[in-house]
Amino acid sequence: MANVAVIGAQWGDEGKGKVVDWLASRADMVVRFQGGHNAGHTLVVGDRTFKLSLLPAGVVRGTLSIIGNGVVIDPWALLKEIGIVGEQGVKITPDVLRIAENAALILPVHQRVDRAREEARGARKIGTTGRGIGPAYEDKVARRAIRVCDLAHPEVLDAKLDELLLHHNALLRGLGAEPFAKAEILDPLLEVAPRILPFAEAVWERLDAARRGGKRILFEGAQGIMLDVDHGTYPFVTSSNCVAGMAAVGSGVGPSAVGTVLGICKAYTTRVGSGPFPTELTDAIGERIGDRGREFGTVTGRRRRCGWFDAVMVRQAIKVGGITGIALTKLDVLDGLAELRVCTGYMLDGQELHRLPASPSLQARVSPIYETMPGWSETTSGARTWAALPAAAIKYVRRIEELIECPVTLLSTSPERDDTIMVRDPFAD
Ligand code: GDP
Ligand code: IMO
Ligand code: MG
Repeated sequence: MANVAVIGAQWGDEGKGKVVDWLASRADMVVRFQGGHNAGHTLVVGDRTFKLSLLPAGVVRGTLSIIGNGVVIDPWALLKEIGIVGEQGVKITPDVLRIAENAALILPVHQRVDRAREEARGARKIGTTGRGIGPAYEDKVARRAIRVCDLAHPEVLDAKLDELLLHHNALLRGLGAEPFAKAEILDPLLEVAPRILPFAEAVWERLDAARRGGKRILFEGAQGIMLDVDHGTYPFVTSSNCVAGMAAVGSGVGPSAVGTVLGICKAYTTRVGSGPFPTELTDAIGERIGDRGREFGTVTGRRRRCGWFDAVMVRQAIKVGGITGIALTKLDVLDGLAELRVCTGYMLDGQELHRLPASPSLQARVSPIYETMPGWSETTSGARTWAALPAAAIKYVRRIEELIECPVTLLSTSPERDDTIMVRDPFAD
């Protein structure tokens, strides 16, 4: 039995949360391996809707859930989320949740730097979630991050904060923002430490034991490959790697442990924040897709930009991300459209391209080449078998498979957990 990694194959919000929740019933544990509370994963279970940002989606089913070392953790955001899901009837204890002791923390200063920088960028802003993700990852790479294990050592916190604030206060002053006094961060950290530490452990050891015991591990990614710091539409990306390789690095297992890689993608495209988007629709069709798909960001409430399915981009994501099968979501959102378009190539200065160029100025200038396909008037919403899908919808899915050179192994037809068609069991591959 293979382990499975779930990663986004577009610009995030593809429905990873729903798919992870669905697959979690077949897994022994779920591990989040990158990102932070910039993620917003929505799960609909009967009449309850869960919005998770840091907690792995396995928690809702009570599957052992692990926050890996590749995640940047805002301890206050985590405790708030634990409180919210607790009120929804999901009690989070150290029996259900474990946190890597070597994960880096997001501090209030990271959020202030994130926002001050975005403000300074003005029209060139990235459109970050303002959660401090970029500055926290920068501190990790710069070797000055405070990590979960440091919470057990007040003297370490004290010394590390001196170093960290030396850097960030200079930056804040330069940006015309208010600097931090050490106590403003140290005191809340000392207060929060005893509430976080009971969850902390050497996660890699647990994963190693699980592997040796033949357990099934489900790796949960955040964001999507086009937001990956190496492979995405840089600089309009997040600050971590979102590809499957990160599942190994961000949880402390080797690459061979990752197994099957399920790329999640919508039957169309969305993006939240700034940056190039070749198939974006700024017309009534785009608005209709946005309305039907309820395309508003879970984290910031921003309206997501919508467009046609971009097979060039998803094919590229599959290649660079190591995706072996696709879960295609939100097919139902396209119900009732007379005609559908799929991008099969780009035109740039009179040349046809079959990849997204790396340069942002070229990315902004490519124009999509479309193939037009008939839509369907029937509803696919809630379909749970292939047989329940109209012929035109099946044709659309089959054509996408051809264009992206990857099989569709799961299909999702509504936000509800069980409105999912399993074409092939990802754990059996
Ligand atoms: P994630 O960040 O990848 O987990 O995705 P989000 O949760 O941010 O956004 C996906 C949204 O689409 C959520 O509101 C889901 O409830 C919803 N959703 C997921 N799958 C489907 C589907 O097949 N059809 C419809 N209509 N909605 C879906
Ligand atoms: P999930 O896991 C969609 C986008 C932001 C911005 C860029 C950088 O729900 O799919 P950051 O705060 O990470 O520095 O912002 O990345 N972004 C997401 N877009 N879904 C997400 O997560 C995202 N996380 C970050 O909008 O454009
Ligand atoms: Mg999301």
